[in-house]
Amino acid sequence: MTGFWTTCSVLLLIAWSSRADNAEIPPLSGSPWSWRCEPKGEGLYDICVRILTPENTATPALSHPACRLTCGKFGTLWPKPKSVNLGKQLSYFLPHSISHTFVASEEDTLLLTEAFKNFMKILDTYDSEYLLGKLTWKSPEPIGYHKVNINIHIEGPSKSHLGLDITDEKYALVVTTDLCSQTSTANITAKTFFGARHGLETLAQLIDYEEIEKKLMIVNSADIKDEPAFPYRGLMLDTSRNFITVEAIKRTIDTMSANKLNTFHWHITDSYTFPLALKSLPKMAYYGTYSPRQVYLPEDVKGLVEYARVRGVRVVPELDAPAHVGFGWQWGPQEGLGNLTVCVDQEPWQEFCLQPPCGQLNIANQNIYTILGKIYQEMLDMFGPLDLFHFGGDEVNVHCWNTTEEIVTYMKSKNLSLTDESYYAQWSQFQNRAYDLLTEANGQVKIPGIIWTSHLTEKGHTNRYLNKEKYIIQIWSVKTDPLIKELLDQKYRLIFSNKDAWYLDCGFSAWVGEGLNSCSPYKGWQLVYDNSPKKIALNVSTEVDFSLILGGEAPLWTEQADSLTIDGRFWPRGAALGERLWSDPDHDWRDAEYRMVNHRQRLVKRGVQADRLQPEWCHQNQGRCYRN
Ligand SMILES: *[C@@H]1O[C@H](CO)[C@@H](O)[C@H](O)[C@H]1NC(C)=O
Ligand SMILES: *[C@@H]1O[C@H](CO)[C@@H](O)[C@H](O)[C@H]1NC(C)=O
Ligand SMILES: *[C@@H]1O[C@H](CO)[C@@H](O)[C@H](O)[C@H]1NC(C)=O
Ligand SMILES: *[C@@H]1O[C@H](CO)[C@@H](O)[C@H](O)[C@H]1NC(C)=O
Ligand SMILES: *[C@@H]1O[C@H](CO)[C@@H](O)[C@H](O)[C@H]1NC(C)=O
Repeated sequence: MTGFWTTCSVLLLIAWSSRADNAEIPPLSGSPWSWRCEPKGEGLYDICVRILTPENTATPALSHPACRLTCGKFGTLWPKPKSVNLGKQLSYFLPHSISHTFVASEEDTLLLTEAFKNFMKILDTYDSEYLLGKLTWKSPEPIGYHKVNINIHIEGPSKSHLGLDITDEKYALVVTTDLCSQTSTANITAKTFFGARHGLETLAQLIDYEEIEKKLMIVNSADIKDEPAFPYRGLMLDTSRNFITVEAIKRTIDTMSANKLNTFHWHITDSYTFPLALKSLPKMAYYGTYSPRQVYLPEDVKGLVEYARVRGVRVVPELDAPAHVGFGWQWGPQEGLGNLTVCVDQEPWQEFCLQPPCGQLNIANQNIYTILGKIYQEMLDMFGPLDLFHFGGDEVNVHCWNTTEEIVTYMKSKNLSLTDESYYAQWSQFQNRAYDLLTEANGQVKIPGIIWTSHLTEKGHTNRYLNKEKYIIQIWSVKTDPLIKELLDQKYRLIFSNKDAWYLDCGFSAWVGEGLNSCSPYKGWQLVYDNSPKKIALNVSTEVDFSLILGGEAPLWTEQADSLTIDGRFWPRGAALGERLWSDPDHDWRDAEYRMVNHRQRLVKRGVQADRLQPEWCHQNQGRCYRN
């Protein structure tokens, strides 16, 4: 039996064949450089070392991507799996020799069919990236290439939408290779479609393109068991300050799925624009967009939600209120509904809000609740079914309300004092009515509402103003905020978005005045990577119930970004967030750097305009770009 294997394994050797007798003109043919995976010893990562291969050498050598696929415990996997065992050898194959079987419910089979198409598209991107490869792929299957069978088994009962249970996203992936029949088999098992989809993404990362030999290669054997550390792993995109095209949002969701991020929090509206077209309230978008083209139609939204679902991403819509409203709400008086908003575009803006244009809902006007109810209804129709909703709820400016005659009169008519506390109580009542309206629109089914930290969550406030059964608090202050301890002690569920590490809009030039923008400096990927919600919690509190920490999210506020630039803002920093929230590694960014730089290259191959982190020389010469 042993001898048999040896014979078969001859087929497997990866060598640069016929490079020397290739007559093409350099640099199109071959390269003098090759790579060798060198063990670094206990506790250290193996690295690929670049070596100069003499011409006409028969020494088997590896191309850079071939070396990287199996070098080090985690190869090129990102985010790194919970448990992994990678073989050291590769097989060549061509995309048309992949076959697959699905064992799953009818609905899951439909989802898997879409996910599988996406998987195949990833392999195709290598084709277009390296045009030279095309010829090889279209030619008949040459000897020495493997067949690849992919079997996916979804064991659990069908679950069509993500919940907050991490076992939903668990999967196992086993790759085995039979050298005699030249067949590599990848088996993915999961409880839900969402887990199985993650398995396919991991499998795609065990495959790369051999650019010299122009063929695909797959790691010969792998045993992976994986599940996320946190159930909520998100990116937030603001589409009000600047409009972002549906296409750019789709690109973002594609890349999220490549990083096992599962929540796209869509901050759709703000005081700037209301770019959501509503059938029952068409004037919102009529008054509320920069131009009639810059609007999301209900079918755009439905399309995006489905697009995201087959990529393992839930969309959480936000309707920010009662502050951060303005353009879009102008039509109240003409319809006989009175002023729906106050302080809109009021000057000097510094007195009424934190950035121009100002605007808040008019809490003295009961008509706002009828309108909110209609908006929620339409949002549920477009986005639903929802398991989470974002109410926004940040940055209410009391001075705005307190200087609006109608509101002051209203407060007085209810015998309310004009203190901050009194306004907060009104705000809290507004919030609870909004919650009830959402529940009503949702057929009386209650879902958790997410809400940003604000005056309502200040020390001693949260318990009074926000019910912990109803609300999840999204922390956007800093990691040393003592509020984190208070909220955890009071058993609030938390999502971390602390701005000192996870705000992706920081560090560019100012957009009002000169100098740098207000949350500078830029948050580098290392800072994003090292921002550990669990460590933050343990740093402010000694006894932490970790189940309260649902995860985290990196927001991109778009004062200074639009469809052309969001790729570079999100990536590869979003990937650093992805590994923090999926794997929650014990180590810091240093142990992830080589994989990160490699992963950035992978994202670029898939068409993402991710930022460069280092000269390519560092990528090709692992371990050489360091600092003591
Ligand atoms: C992979 O799945 C196929 C089909 O379900 C099965 O026949 C085979 O035994 C599995 N292989 C491994 C290594 O689990
Ligand atoms: C509505 O707002 C406008 C402009 O701010 C103001 O002139 C008007 O008096 C307000 N209407 C009411 C009923 O307060
Ligand atoms: C407000 O207080 C006045 C005097 O104290 C009282 O007459 C009135 O009924 C109160 N109004 C409300 C709405 O409670
Ligand atoms: C609201 O305005 C009144 C009078 O103009 C003032 O006495 C009160 O302090 C103000 N309240 C707040 C919270 O600023
Ligand atoms: C822990 O708290 C200290 C003091 O507030 C702070 O300097 C440090 O950065 C914190 N570390 C983490 C991981 O939050």
